Amino acid sequence: QISPISQPYWQGQRLLISAGPTFEDLDPVRFLGNRSSGKMGFAIAEQAQKMGAKVTLIAGPVTLATPFNVHRIDVRSAQQMFAAVQAHYAQNAVFISAAAVADFALAQSSQHKIKKQPGQDGLTLQLVKNPDIVAWVAAQSDKPFVVGFAAETQNVLEYARAKLHAKKLDMICANQVGENLGFEREQNQLTLLSAQHEKILPTSTKSEQAQQLLAFIAEQQTSIKA
Ligand code: CTP
Ligand code: CA
Repeated sequence: QISPISQPYWQGQRLLISAGPTFEDLDPVRFLGNRSSGKMGFAIAEQAQKMGAKVTLIAGPVTLATPFNVHRIDVRSAQQMFAAVQAHYAQNAVFISAAAVADFALAQSSQHKIKKQPGQDGLTLQLVKNPDIVAWVAAQSDKPFVVGFAAETQNVLEYARAKLHAKKLDMICANQVGENLGFEREQNQLTLLSAQHEKILPTSTKSEQAQQLLAFIAEQQTSIKA
């Protein structure tokens, strides 16, 4: 079922992937995080490597083994992920932003453990917006082919299409999360959207979704260049 175009396209191609959550530290023992496991991004890295791609994987804090022959760079915060992406995007033909980047970070993280005070009955955290990493890459003049993800619990395709346009992406993978799909799950269901095309993938394992996604990118890229 995988397009025969995809193998030659990915052979020797440089692919940058971000994966996993980011953790935003409050203090040395606490952080704000999210439920991304990193499995989708790691599955894409593994499958792309098998198709012959040279893969760099920028990973947030996850408990996954590095796929064979994949260059992995570990980061923790959105700012660290941004710095790693800025250092690497230009050497790659394709950037897939599969990471669940925290939208906000602490305005200030404390050097020491925050202690609650006697009688304190609440705590207000001040957050500041993180950079939009995928939108930043898509705005560069030497940008690679840029693929985003949109994990949504409702109005999935509508929100995904809005993100495709707002962030000026080449493609977005709409991802229904919740119930038995998406975060912390083996099975996934993606719909692939570009300006011209829409492809609904059947529910399958993240490895199978990754193969289909890589084949779709190869088709898009091959038709652009043809
Ligand atoms: N993304 C990013 N940097 C951010 C936030 C998101 O690069 N600071 C990327 C994600 O990796 C994903 C895409 O943008 O590829 C969409 O992320 P998502 O969280 O769905 O969209 P947001 O623009 O953050 O909108 P919201 O969370 O409000 O739905
Ligand atoms: Ca977000």
